Amino acid sequence: MSKLIIGNWKMNVGVRESLALARAVLLGMRGKTFAPDVVVCPPSVALTEVRKAVAHSRIGLGAQNLFFEDVGAYTGEISGRMLAEIGCGYVIVGHSERRNLFGETDEIVKNKVLAALRHRLIPIVCVGENEEERKCGEAEKVVERQLRMALDGVRFSPHGCVIAYEPVWAIGTGNAGNPADVVRIHTTIWRILSELMERTLVDSVRIVYGGSINSGNSYAFLREQAIDGLLVGGASVKISQWSEILHTATQVIESQQ
Ligand code: 13P
Repeated sequence: MSKLIIGNWKMNVGVRESLALARAVLLGMRGKTFAPDVVVCPPSVALTEVRKAVAHSRIGLGAQNLFFEDVGAYTGEISGRMLAEIGCGYVIVGHSERRNLFGETDEIVKNKVLAALRHRLIPIVCVGENEEERKCGEAEKVVERQLRMALDGVRFSPHGCVIAYEPVWAIGTGNAGNPADVVRIHTTIWRILSELMERTLVDSVRIVYGGSINSGNSYAFLREQAIDGLLVGGASVKISQWSEILHTATQVIESQQ
């Protein structure tokens, strides 16, 4: 399977910068045969402009968040229905910044996954332990709880789902995880998914890693079979870093053909 590289631009760029970034990403992928699957997640105000820029290309468009209701008096919220309407294909759900800064519980995350699937958006479900949990040796336990809660009662369709393992201590710290540890957690995630859904559906789920990925460390993660791709934050808004990560992914895919 090809690798999947997702850029989470967070709240780091405005509309004009998002558009410039999207054009640069397009340019960087031109003519590449084995380029990875690419999804960019600009801030919501830039989604429409970026969609126009990436239309008719292989670049997927993702939102960074959604609300779990479809319509109603929810001032300031954006529904899955709206995201589908403007041409999003993906949506990040349960990012640790949303869990920690905006009080998103496992229950809310599950409702958001359901809302995404209702509107045929591919959810990019984020799970991961924090520093304290890691020190207590509870990483697997936390990831298992988050995953089981997020997918509880979810009926999957083959159109896909992405699980992003993003340990909180690795996000924005410059301290990317150790690939061997990440492979271990990804294997756990795969085992849990196998209990929750049919084998053919499990094979369509991509398990990606995120946390302080940059052009220097991306190869160590991408070369692992158990790591289907990367969810990149800071380095995804630096076009030289981002281009190198895409180049590395292309090389890995070529070498694994
Ligand atoms: P950084 O790559 O900046 O650590 O962020 C990772 C992340 O949170 C992606 O969703």
